[in-house]
This record gives sequence, structure tokens and C-alpha cells, in this order.
Amino acid sequence: MFMTDALRRSLRCALSCPARSLAGLAGRWLVLGVETSCDDTGAAVVDEEGTVLGESLHSQKDVHLKTGGIIPVVAQKLHQENIARVVQDALDRSGVVPGDLSAVATTVKPGLALSLRVGLEYSLSFVHKHKKSFIPVHHMEAHALTVRMIQPVPFPFLVLLVSGGHGLLAMARGVDDFLLLGRALDEAPGDTLDKVARRLSLQSQPEWAVCSGGQALECAARAGDRSRFCFTLPMAQRYDCHLSFAGLRNQVTRAIEMKEEEEGVRPGEVLSCAGDIAAATQHAVAAHLANRTHRAILFSKTSGLLPQNGATLVVSGGVASNQYIRHTLKMVTDATGLQLICPPPELCTDNGVMIAWNGIERLREEKGVLTHGQHVVYEPKAPFGTDITQQVKEAAIKLPQLKLDTRP
Ligand code: KG4
Ligand code: ZN
Repeated sequence: MFMTDALRRSLRCALSCPARSLAGLAGRWLVLGVETSCDDTGAAVVDEEGTVLGESLHSQKDVHLKTGGIIPVVAQKLHQENIARVVQDALDRSGVVPGDLSAVATTVKPGLALSLRVGLEYSLSFVHKHKKSFIPVHHMEAHALTVRMIQPVPFPFLVLLVSGGHGLLAMARGVDDFLLLGRALDEAPGDTLDKVARRLSLQSQPEWAVCSGGQALECAARAGDRSRFCFTLPMAQRYDCHLSFAGLRNQVTRAIEMKEEEEGVRPGEVLSCAGDIAAATQHAVAAHLANRTHRAILFSKTSGLLPQNGATLVVSGGVASNQYIRHTLKMVTDATGLQLICPPPELCTDNGVMIAWNGIERLREEKGVLTHGQHVVYEPKAPFGTDITQQVKEAAIKLPQLKLDTRP
């Protein structure tokens, strides 16, 4: 189901090898990927077999954590300060010189305008200098296809992307062919988990101080009893595949406020029932994702978008590391006969590797490869695939009962 140990080892080895002889690389496609759409400056060199020859990533998360969110001009400045070094590190680690590259692939949409601009301007001057082809990449398409770098998942497959910035359900039909079945209408699931974790002051506990909010919440939930709080699932009466978490977060916040008053807890202190609230929140998020995914599977099968047998659900994004959520989704795929695949966490998050891999996929199919001198712009807002969410809504598929309360 998940990546085999052998694959994981070979990926780790490729990620950690500082340099590789170029002798064996002659004639192979090599793509430099550049990612700056949000708060990570990433670069990587990947070959056509999906081997990561060299990678470098500079995360701005610590800086943005202090200001309580991403300030675009700060993100831009940090990208500007780091991009040349990050790209050079990736090249040095790969042992590849610019002349050996087949192309440069760079995220140009969607994302923060000022951040996208840094990556695009740097990449365009790089391809101009070294006379390389340029491949503009859609960030979400790259996320959706990353799994194919480690496993030959054939098209079509269903994909659920869940992270701090994304929430969507889509059908991947080809390298540049996606159908959007549902998207996050208010906030992304990781954002919700981060905010609840912060509200519960979980990261004030030394053991969770360095965890992301989602990780801290998952750990706290292990010791909790989710049945002590019952949160209504979002949009239970809307028979589509959209995601919504803001209403759930309001419910959780109200429950926390009530308990804080009851327990006389001051800000920064942790409630005695924090684990129970974490468990109930995690369950509600998992159940909501499972329900929407279940409907997406049934819709895709009945409309002939997915084969009746042997279909795959790929779950990616930071939230996909959550074992409880994975386990809940596995119950859905088991009940519907799908295979569940989650790429390893290091490939679920933003990085240059997934962008480089998208470049390889596009080179192979000769799709969206620009020759030297073609005009390119960045697009902060960009649609993802063909939007068929209205069709999904009109199908109004009611879900058969599926018990989703077993612990992993
Ligand atoms: O994909 P990602 O690294 O970055 C972007 O959002 O672009 O995802 C980060 C998100 C954060 O919201 C974090 O809290 C969440 O993924 N996350 C988790 C877990 N690990 C990370 N959420 C739930 N359970 C986890 N174990
Ligand atoms: Zn992303």
C-alpha cells in the first residue's frame, strides 16, 4: 500500500548522496526544479527515473511563526536572500552543472505573488544565461503527480490534497488533465488543526514545542477520549465534495472557551481535557474528509471516471501524515475497493523535488515545455483543472452507512 522499504531506502540514499558521477547520467533527462510559491525556497535536480540527485530547501516557517502568519514582503525578501544559494546547493549536491540540464521547471501558479515572482525571475535569468528550455509548473498539479515519482500509479486516479494551504479532491487523468471534484471553501484542514492546537496551547508543552500544530494535535489526541466531545460534521446536508472547516473550528473554540471558564484556566495553560478535545477535533476532520472522499469515489465510479476495480486514491499534503486520518480514509478505500497510497511525508510537503518531477513528466509528454525566449507570467490565482464541482453537486450522491470510529 505505502512505499516499500526498498523504495524508501533508495529515495533516502539519493537524497543524501552529496554528489554522483555524471558518467552514468549522459543522455538522461535532468530537470532542475524551483519552488517559491509560499514560504519555502526549494530546488532539486531529478532525473527521468525519479531519482533525486540533489536537493536543497530553505524553510521560512520559524520567521513566520514569530509574526503569527506569512507577511508577503518578508517572504519575498527571504526568497531573494536564499534562492541563489539554494539552487547552487541543489546543483552541487547533484554533481550536475547547468549545461547538463535538460530544462528548468519552476512554480508559476498559484501562490503568493511576491514569492512566485522571485522564483520566476531567478529561473528566467538562469535559463537565459544557460540557454535552457523552461517549464512553468502549476503547484497543485505538481503535488498531485509527485506520487508517480516513486510508484508507477497509472492515470486516472483520485487525489486528495490536504495541507496547511490546500484542500481539494480531484481526478488526475493526465499530466495536464485534471478534474476538480471539490475544494476547501473556507480554510484548509491543516490551517484548522494548527489554529485549534494553538488555541489549546499544545505547543507550550515541551514535548510538542517543535511540532507542527497538526502533529501536536495528533499526539495529544492519542491520550484523549473523543467521545467526551461531539462536534457536528461540516456540510452533512450538502451532497457535494467540497470541504469546509471554519464552522468546525468555531464549535471547537466554543467548547474550549466553556471548559476554560469551568476549569479557571489562564491563557497559555493547558486544559485537563485538551486531549479529549484534540481527539474529537481530529475525528471530525477525519470523518469529514472521509465522507467527501467517499462521495468523490462513488461519483467517479458511477460517471465512469474511475474503473470499477483496481482504482487508486492518492492522499498527499502535510495532513496526510496523520495516522488517524489515513486509517479513516483506508476504511473508505477498503469499502469501495480502491488502493490507498500516501507518498512519504518529505514528498508531501512543498519542495523543489515535486516541481522538478513535474518537469520530467511534462518533458516526457512534450507538454508545456517552452523554448528559449517565450514570454511567461506568474499567476497568484489559478484554477486547478476543469471544475466539475457543479456536476458533483447535481448528482447529490447520498452515502451508504460506513462506520468510521475504529482506532488505528
Ligand atoms: O504540506 P505542508 O507541509 O505545508 C503546506 O501547508 O504547504 O503541510 C503543513 C500542514 C500543517 O498545517 C501541519 O499542521 C499539518 O500539515 N500536519 C499535520 C501533521 N503533520 C503536519 N496535520 C495532522 N497530523 C499530522 N501528523
Ligand atoms: Zn503546497
